[in-house]
Amino acid sequence: MRAPSIDLLDPAYDADIHTAHRRARERSWYATTPMGIIVLRHAEVLGVLRDRRWREQGRDALESVGITSGPLWEWLGQIMATQEGEDHARLRRLVSQAFTPRQVERLRPMMRRTAHALLDAVIGDAGCEFVSAFAAPYPVHVIGELIGVPATDLDRFHGWCSDLSLAFGPGIASERERIESALGDLSDYVDALLAERRHVPGPDLTSALIEVEEQGDRLSAAELRAMVTVLIFGGQDTTQCQLACAISAFLDSPEQWRLLAERPALAASAAEEVLRYEPAGSGAPRVATEDLVVNGLEIPGGTVALPSGPAANRDPAVYPDPDRLDITRQHAEPQLTFGGGAHYCLGASLARAELQEALPILAGRLGEIGSAGPIEWRRRALIRGPVHLPLAFAGGPA
Ligand code: HEM
Repeated sequence: MRAPSIDLLDPAYDADIHTAHRRARERSWYATTPMGIIVLRHAEVLGVLRDRRWREQGRDALESVGITSGPLWEWLGQIMATQEGEDHARLRRLVSQAFTPRQVERLRPMMRRTAHALLDAVIGDAGCEFVSAFAAPYPVHVIGELIGVPATDLDRFHGWCSDLSLAFGPGIASERERIESALGDLSDYVDALLAERRHVPGPDLTSALIEVEEQGDRLSAAELRAMVTVLIFGGQDTTQCQLACAISAFLDSPEQWRLLAERPALAASAAEEVLRYEPAGSGAPRVATEDLVVNGLEIPGGTVALPSGPAANRDPAVYPDPDRLDITRQHAEPQLTFGGGAHYCLGASLARAELQEALPILAGRLGEIGSAGPIEWRRRALIRGPVHLPLAFAGGPA
């Protein structure tokens, strides 16, 4: 039987990825695409993510457009997501000593304060554009506090990160100058921050990363800079998109929104369920490092596979009635929005905490919500979500 095919570049796919995944997943564990294969079922997605014979794509996207030197090339070669094997494990061990559950827990009160302050600014208006009013600024404030950046600098580094995100979309070559200029500014900023924290340490993650040491091994100056830029960058766009994905999901399930407003104690399972149901990440592509056989399928070395979180998360073999948002659902298996295996998202517990704090406050204070215009989604991107989400709300009692 021929495998189904999905054209990941077709606007019709972007407009409704879940239907395309469902149709293909019913027939097969994978589908062919113009870029390689997309893996669709939970067991096989987890299998690819955990199998070290698949590597991250690294700098392949740059190479494919002829970029093999320069600041962007160097940076992408240094960050954790492009390292493999012992190099990656070493970085991960060192960073995990600093990026601890305590770093996340210390931020929860400021997450709540930030959510309330952002809502105070719009609550009297009965409506807002949700992305600019809440989804974008909320994670910027949180990352600022995590890293130890003064609130007055937040706008600047949000702009650099937006430009840097172009490095992960289809316009790398055409936008190279803009991306590299943003990367230069961000790196200079991070260098100054590191110099300051070496002098006067604080409770923030930057200070903790400087202090990290394991059996005489420390992060080098270049590694520290790459790590802090990646945390600043990796923690904004993703959480912004996930918050907007969550609201779009609740717009279609108003009874679940009401339930969350009535029972804020459901925050943790609600966060987990929106991550499952409408993930901000399409998955992190992998490349086969050798010839492989998966479920009888011969896969030549060099094949690109997209282990799809969104498709795995709606696999009926794991989640009964998967196309229904149910914030009381107990997941028997982990949802795969944060990937898996050695590269499992480093910031997953921070992102979870951000959703757990924000969602019940939003449900309580916004009250009934409705769409106030067409939702515009980001197209052809690995980090997906609404970029424009006009929202009407009644205002709640909280
Ligand atoms: C809802 C929000 C988020 C989503 C959907 C998300 C998703 C992902 C995904 C899919 C991966 C790749 C996993 C793999 O290759 O198997 C990843 C890796 C990573 N994420 Fe996140 N992420 C989020 C938030 C964050 C935050 C808040 C931070 C940091 C503050 C962060 C930092 C990272 C880093 C450093 C990696 C690379 C880990 C490694 O290669 O070992 N992410 N994330």
